[in-house]
Amino acid sequence: MAIYTLPELPYDYAALEPVINPQIVELHHDKHHAAYVKGANDTLEQLEEAREKDAWGSINGLEKNLAFHLSGHILHSIYWHNMASPKDGSGGGEPTAADGVGDLADAITESFGSFAKFKAQLTKAAATTQGSGWGVLAYEPVSGRLIVEQVYDHQGNVGQGSVPVLVFDAWEHAFYLQYKNQKVDFIDAMWAVVNWQDVAKRYAEAKDRTPLITP
Ligand SMILES: [Fe+2]
Repeated sequence: MAIYTLPELPYDYAALEPVINPQIVELHHDKHHAAYVKGANDTLEQLEEAREKDAWGSINGLEKNLAFHLSGHILHSIYWHNMASPKDGSGGGEPTAADGVGDLADAITESFGSFAKFKAQLTKAAATTQGSGWGVLAYEPVSGRLIVEQVYDHQGNVGQGSVPVLVFDAWEHAFYLQYKNQKVDFIDAMWAVVNWQDVAKRYAEAKDRTPLITP
């Protein structure tokens, strides 16, 4: 029985135009994200089989596959909700107290100095990924602050315990059909679809769920 399932998109394929075209959204969700869901479920089955047979010859590969596919599923599930239409005012701009997301705006200023400095760091981290990866804004529960992470593939270069709240997919499948090799242009354009209400909700939940911890 499948443990993980592909979530529905919270909008139609064309909702993110002109930043991301409908063909990319359809392929990205229906094919790429779906493959990570299947990969995570398949790997869990293979691990169950290994336990039943006490056959551990493939344990290294299976654990690596589990981290890869599961992290791919989780990051994409966040990614879709992190975005909203740039045309109706629900995506883009900056988080402000006037929009009810003052806690997030304050946390960004405290952690990075200013929104502009944060934006520069996340843009750079996402746009300079080597190979495939993500730029991620995460809540870090030891310091109680926000950090930017440059994630390799879906699972590498991550601080243990950090909770992603805003993720920029920098894999070629996220932009190549529209932006070709211009990854910097794509990441710059992404700011126009950020759903700050969703980011603020994730930040508040992360703080509630993971109070400061002692490592
Ligand atoms: Fe992706």
